[in-house]
Amino acid sequence: MRPTYHMAIETGETTVFAPLPGDAAGAGAAAGLADTPKERRVYFEVFGCQMNKLDAEIMLEILGNAGYRLTHDPDEAGVILYNTCSVRQQAEERVYSRLGTLRRRKLREPDLVIGLLGCIAQHHGADLFRRMPHLDLVIGTREFHKLPSLIAGVRATSEKRLATELDSPLEFQRTRNFGPNRYQAYVSVMRGCDMVCTYCIVPTTRGKEVSHPPEQVLAECRRLAETGVREVTLLGQTVNSYGKRLGTAGIGLHTLLYGLEEIDGIERVRFITSHPRFMRPLLVEAMAKCRKSCEYLHLPVQSGADSVLKRMKRTYDRDYYLRVVERCRAAIPNFAIATDFIVGFPGETEAEFQASLSLVREVGFDHGYVFKYSPRPGTEGYAIPDDVPDAVKRERNQILLDELGRVQIEKNRGRVGARAQVLVEGPSKSDPAMWTGRTRDHRIVVWPKTAADEAGTFAEIEVAAATALTLRGHRVGAAAAALAATSTQ
Ligand code: SAH
Ligand code: SF4
Ligand code: F3S
Repeated sequence: MRPTYHMAIETGETTVFAPLPGDAAGAGAAAGLADTPKERRVYFEVFGCQMNKLDAEIMLEILGNAGYRLTHDPDEAGVILYNTCSVRQQAEERVYSRLGTLRRRKLREPDLVIGLLGCIAQHHGADLFRRMPHLDLVIGTREFHKLPSLIAGVRATSEKRLATELDSPLEFQRTRNFGPNRYQAYVSVMRGCDMVCTYCIVPTTRGKEVSHPPEQVLAECRRLAETGVREVTLLGQTVNSYGKRLGTAGIGLHTLLYGLEEIDGIERVRFITSHPRFMRPLLVEAMAKCRKSCEYLHLPVQSGADSVLKRMKRTYDRDYYLRVVERCRAAIPNFAIATDFIVGFPGETEAEFQASLSLVREVGFDHGYVFKYSPRPGTEGYAIPDDVPDAVKRERNQILLDELGRVQIEKNRGRVGARAQVLVEGPSKSDPAMWTGRTRDHRIVVWPKTAADEAGTFAEIEVAAATALTLRGHRVGAAAAALAATSTQ
């Protein structure tokens, strides 16, 4: 059966899933929607990280199997769901303000089912019903496979439903890929996090680390390859600690990289997010040896100051991080590295901030995100006064971003004149005469459209110019020739 919806429209940090208009499957979805009574029409918004987006995809499959159809118009929906994020206060507030707008509608339409799912649900549980009496469903991060029966339960009894058990294993085998498009897919290899970073709410919202058995992950990848997926991104909060507690010695993320080499159709493999502590030699070796494994690593450092890293309980220091990067660079040609920083962690002095700033150039990050520290109730750090004023956090945020931008543009300029293998994504949003795609090391490339361009195929692009965010170039050679190249950027 063809998927009835498979398109995620990015709107800032929110993802709204919607049928794809004009596409055969999209047209089918539209027809299906017209025949679907309002009580089975679902409007669904997703906040937060890739795991949340993937969970939302799985929920869409579960709901689809139970006869629900997706609508992009909340007014047309009989069920409104939000999959939510707790990582920073701002992320929570955005969801509360969305929910607030439904209060009056629920009074007019008592049959409307409103559900809050994911990390906020897991974190605040039944409290949410007290704060927002118009909510019907609160479902945490490991019980969403029960969605259809919980919705039915609310309808049958008009009573609220809470499902926030964290120990229950999530047993659901995905068969379809809903995003980001039909040739790229995310695959969950583990759930939860065993680390105790003092600023972070994720271990509370996602529970203890549980790895899925490698046979199961590889079987899912095989199924996805059969549906046309060319690039998989393996997901886990500390994805490179994969394999723990599986009961078989020697299983790690490297096992999956070698396994994916054998799956026809899959041409690129990525994984996010890695923790510096688990960047073990066996994994680096596998990245170097596996043709499909991309030369790209997202390795959040959080701070360049040992004292801050210690207060954050990150379990490594600056020197350890630098040695990890060195090891990767020595083994993997054209290795690219992205990172996350937090500015304004409690007690962060100017000197500590300068240590983060100097690390940007010392490592030479290809890309980086910067977050202003946000105290999260329930974390160890919450007890420490949030003493860096917001104006200072904002200033440090900007200074660090500017430095990351400068280094990024220098790195991008270093690619000018080189050829890059690109997975073609489609027309550029700002100029449909130009097409875009990504290199193996996750750089965005833009080029004038040619007759050979087709989303989901590979192209070889000669890079002619670079900005901080994109490379510009033109197409060379045939698509098939580019596919065979192994050492492109
Ligand atoms: N599991 C990943 C990241 C999880 S959260 C890892 O371990 O790297 C994504 C990013 O959000 C983190 O890397 C961190 O930079 C940021 N973050 C987490 N908690 C935060 C907080 N309380 N305030 C600000 N940023 C935070
Ligand atoms: Fe949070 Fe640290 Fe776990 Fe990442 S490793 S999810 S930052 S606790
Ligand atoms: Fe947010 Fe939960 Fe992901 S807190 S960052 S959605 S794991």
